[in-house]
Amino acid sequence: MSFDRSVKIAPSILSADFANFGAEIEAVEAQGADWIHVDVMDGHFVPNLTFGPPLCAAIRKHINTVMDVHLMISPVDPYIQAFADAGADVLTAHLEAGPHIHRTLQAIRGAGCKAGLALNPGTGIEDIEYLLDMVDLICVMTVNPGFGGQKFIHSQIEKVKKLRAMIGDRPIHIQIDGGITPETAPLMASAGADVLVAGSAVFKGGSVSNPAPYGENIRAIRAAVA
Ligand code: DX5
Ligand code: ZN
Repeated sequence: MSFDRSVKIAPSILSADFANFGAEIEAVEAQGADWIHVDVMDGHFVPNLTFGPPLCAAIRKHINTVMDVHLMISPVDPYIQAFADAGADVLTAHLEAGPHIHRTLQAIRGAGCKAGLALNPGTGIEDIEYLLDMVDLICVMTVNPGFGGQKFIHSQIEKVKKLRAMIGDRPIHIQIDGGITPETAPLMASAGADVLVAGSAVFKGGSVSNPAPYGENIRAIRAAVA
């Protein structure tokens, strides 16, 4: 995985057909997805349950781009090795998931993955200064995590601008997750984000047997930020 700041679109399979992940991933990649975003939820850190390492391992062979695993779980540390073994390229943990985020980020890199740090909408960036040299990606949540299809929270634009300045020349991706559409994507791209997660806005209107809308949806987001 090489680093660059070009805009990348990462469809979230939370909005795909859960009975058909392999084919959904292949379809969305064929339609222009840059990364595949995998939302892991534990029913404890967030009020929803999705899937764990075995599902990630099963879908890994269908991903030719980047497997971007967003852990909305607490605790994180006992599961890092299992998600690394499942083939995650990027493993993102929430700052709010426990008292020892520094240790968690060390463990993620130690397991051979790129380390991501996610921030809930209510979390400021004041406490991340001493983590910047340990992260490859910072995910700014633009909805409260737990569900797809929620409304974009505009206060996060300011956060991304401040974060972009704080990052300076460091090779750290800024990822945005939640409520991304052709209307909201440009606000975040101009604020400094480069990885745009989009679930409902990519998968709407399409299916494995009719994947063309996935491509139209991806191109609409790309055109809006160009
Ligand atoms: C929310 C997840 C998101 C979600 C985005 O908890 O982390 O990745 O799938 O979905 P949309 O794009 O529909 O807001
Ligand atoms: Zn996510």
